[in-house]
Amino acid sequence: MKKLIISLVLVFGVFSVFSMGAFAAEDGASLYKERCAGCHGADGAKSTPVKGTSQEIEKKLKGYLDGSYGGTKKAVMAGIVKKLSDEQIKLVSAHIATFN
Ligand code: HEC
Repeated sequence: MKKLIISLVLVFGVFSVFSMGAFAAEDGASLYKERCAGCHGADGAKSTPVKGTSQEIEKKLKGYLDGSYGGTKKAVMAGIVKKLSDEQIKLVSAHIATFN
């Protein structure tokens, strides 16, 4: 019985580590930390500040893609947004909205 409990704990332990890893890859906070925080800061206040509702951020990010939004350094952002999927744009926008 003791052995069974130990193996169950091990199996679930390994499983939860794996599922956490898979989840982190598609998590807005981790995406932001990995790909955006270097320039915009951990809370979006550094260099060009990022701030707004999830919809506003999403609109700006998509605007960088289709050229309808951006300032003098828009090429920087266009290159970054190009590497994000629609789903990742949504996730990271929702995360930025929590900075308000
Ligand atoms: C290499 C530095 C760099 C990285 C990395 C970066 N940005 Fe930017 N970001 C900029 C610069 C520079 C601007 C201003 C561009 C312009 O002139 O429009 C900007 C502008 C923005 C804006 C528009 C701000 C506004 O209100 O006009 C948003 C939103 C944004 N970034 C989100 C992100 C997100 C989300 C990520 C990560 C996926 C990211 N950025 C990664 C440099 C960076």
